Amino acid sequence: MAVVGDRGNRSDRLVVLGGEGSTVRGEGRVWLVGAGPGDPELLTIKALKALRAAQVVVHDGLVSEDILDLAPASARKISVAKRKSRHSYSQDEINRMLVAFALEGLNVVRLKGGDPFIFGRGGEELEACREAGVECVIIPGVTAALAAGAGASAPLTHRGVAQAVTFVTGHAAKGGEPDLDWESLAKANQTVVIYMGVSMAVPIAARLMEAGRVGSTPALIVENASRADERRITTTLAGLPEAAATVTGPALLIVGEAMALAQAGVGSTDVEILVQKARA
Ligand SMILES: C[S@@+](CC[C@H](N)C(=O)[O-])C[C@H]1O[C@@H](n2cnc3c(N)ncnc32)[C@H](O)[C@@H]1O
Repeated sequence: MAVVGDRGNRSDRLVVLGGEGSTVRGEGRVWLVGAGPGDPELLTIKALKALRAAQVVVHDGLVSEDILDLAPASARKISVAKRKSRHSYSQDEINRMLVAFALEGLNVVRLKGGDPFIFGRGGEELEACREAGVECVIIPGVTAALAAGAGASAPLTHRGVAQAVTFVTGHAAKGGEPDLDWESLAKANQTVVIYMGVSMAVPIAARLMEAGRVGSTPALIVENASRADERRITTTLAGLPEAAATVTGPALLIVGEAMALAQAGVGSTDVEILVQKARA
């Protein structure tokens, strides 16, 4: 039997995982919800409805307070964000926590940055629910790559220039360099979007160039896509490591001919401001 409690100050109630009580089946359900890349306006209406009905919200660090505030004040909010200095929950503990709450009969929203099934470990949480016989409903979210391309006005596919787009991780599952098919990623006329790749920019750029992608291929880095502090750096594949060295927040590395259309700069596109400008 394991016991977990909130690490924050929102609640001090404990949940028993794998104890006798957890065999009591209620009508609880787990909602795996994509919170989008940060801008609350990029939340789907379905996600909003699920949040409003939540009794428990288990969320990642990349989910903003603005979005968490959309859940009822009475909902218990548990951060399972990875922390450098304090203990954070293992994936197994998170899986068991979700199942335990649902078996208590609670409506559990597992809120993840972007989309739950794009580098979000949503598949593992879904499997844990299935194994426990807990219903799990998936609500997709806007993945960071889509917001990054949109914010920079750079299409991820572009007729005659980018016939494919590939999302890859910049990290191996156990850390270190990713084991990717560099030959395939180095082919021209396709966009490669690298998640979690900032600290690996040096080997990633080197592998792509060794495999034949030319150093002058346009590249884009988008930090904090869709947030007020969004920052876009336009560069080339060869210039990617130097540009990545200036990044501190969550960011994507994007390589491909279509990135020639990208606009560098700061700030996200606030629809209300643009509408006001158009009316003026
Ligand atoms: C664990 S992955 C989660 C991805 C998420 N499930 C999604 O669909 O966007 C975290 C990585 O996603 C990228 N990321 C997430 N949010 C971002 C944002 N707002 N701007 C840029 N990159 C972001 C970064 O590469 C970050 O290291």
